[in-house]
Amino acid sequence: MKNILVLVVVLCVGFSFFYACAQKEEEKEMPKMDPMAQLQKSIERGMALFSDTTLGTSGLTCNSCHMEGGTREGKMGDQTLAAFDNLGAKYPKYFMMAKRVMTLDQVVIYCIVNPLKGKPPAWDDQKLTDLTAYVASVKPMKMEKEK
Ligand code: HEC
Repeated sequence: MKNILVLVVVLCVGFSFFYACAQKEEEKEMPKMDPMAQLQKSIERGMALFSDTTLGTSGLTCNSCHMEGGTREGKMGDQTLAAFDNLGAKYPKYFMMAKRVMTLDQVVIYCIVNPLKGKPPAWDDQKLTDLTAYVASVKPMKMEKEK
């Protein structure tokens, strides 16, 4: 009887120890995700992609038309492009160039495929996510007179 009791106690202690270790292991494998930090990293990658010629084949980058990361008015020939301004809140909307309503990531794909002459990224392509996260985050620079 005593032996069985000792065995049960030993098993319980052993099991809890094993369980605690397994949990520690799990914590190590899955570092705590900070959602804001994840978004910030995506925005930063998108910012870098904005001047990446390898997105397309035309030699252009997003920065060729959307000056200084889209924070200032851009130029395409003699057309003036508005600075990006809180685009995350403005889309979906009618997108003139494509003559249809588009989501913000569709506009990003449109600019990759047309001006940049690149391959359209898949819907879950990390580069598409990062570029869209970036353009959605851009606030235009304050004009001199507003300072
Ligand atoms: C050859 C010039 C050119 C290049 C290069 C270019 N775009 Fe554009 N983009 C345009 C034009 C033109 C518009 C339409 C502007 C408008 O409707 O006011 C536009 C619109 C946009 C818009 C919507 C802006 C708004 O205010 O609604 C986004 C976002 C955008 N482009 C992202 C990108 C990204 C990302 C890249 C790089 C992958 C890129 N563009 C490359 C010309 C370009």
